[in-house]
Amino acid sequence: MTTETHRVIRPSILYFGTPVVLLTTENADGTFNLAPISSAWALGQHIVLGLGSESQTVRNLAERPDVVINLASPDLWERVESLAPLTGADPVPESKRAVYRYEHDKFAAAGLTPRSCDLVRPPRVAECPLQLEARSIALTPGGEGRFLSVECEVVRVHADERITVPGTHHIDPSAWSPLIYNFRHYHGLAPELGHGFRSETAKAATRVG
Ligand SMILES: Cc1cc2nc3c(=O)[nH]c(=O)nc-3n(C[C@H](O)[C@H](O)[C@H](O)COP(=O)(O)O)c2cc1C
Repeated sequence: MTTETHRVIRPSILYFGTPVVLLTTENADGTFNLAPISSAWALGQHIVLGLGSESQTVRNLAERPDVVINLASPDLWERVESLAPLTGADPVPESKRAVYRYEHDKFAAAGLTPRSCDLVRPPRVAECPLQLEARSIALTPGGEGRFLSVECEVVRVHADERITVPGTHHIDPSAWSPLIYNFRHYHGLAPELGHGFRSETAKAATRVG
């Protein structure tokens, strides 16, 4: 019989370390909202987002499906954090009033630069090395009405040349590092441990070398 090394805890949050994305969506008046989230994961060319039901982002996506999923890099953490107490919802929903304040121009508030997209209406965040133009295709309520899972289809990918493998469509995993939200603290990636058996960049490097 092995000795028990774990104890039962009740953590207030379960943010176990996921990449930070900045979502741009279109407001009813044709202006654009910008919001940091970390509940985002990919399945093929689809991304599923976990969004609080009182966020302006969800309101926008329920009416106007265009969205840009901008992947933040570790150097942007302070600008991400400057967006943390802000919401584009006016008036600020009752449940958020103690912590959040309304901000109409979050690009200016965070010192970030909008750059127009090819296929969707909201702008990209120029400072983010990876920018995914997408459209939401399904909003599924969950968490007893507190959250929605939003499935998005990516229609175009913009990648900073410095994180791509020249002459290919691959992201270079040694050049790209996501900003990780780890139990409300920000981290970058630690050095690589190895690669998966289906890595296409590792196979290409072996062929060249
Ligand atoms: C790093 C970080 C990660 C966050 N992750 C999420 C998330 O995954 N889902 C979510 O709904 N809110 C998340 N939030 C909180 C939202 O940013 C916050 O609710 C914000 O007010 C939403 O903006 P909006 O109301 O303008 O859409 C996160 C905030 C920060 C700073």
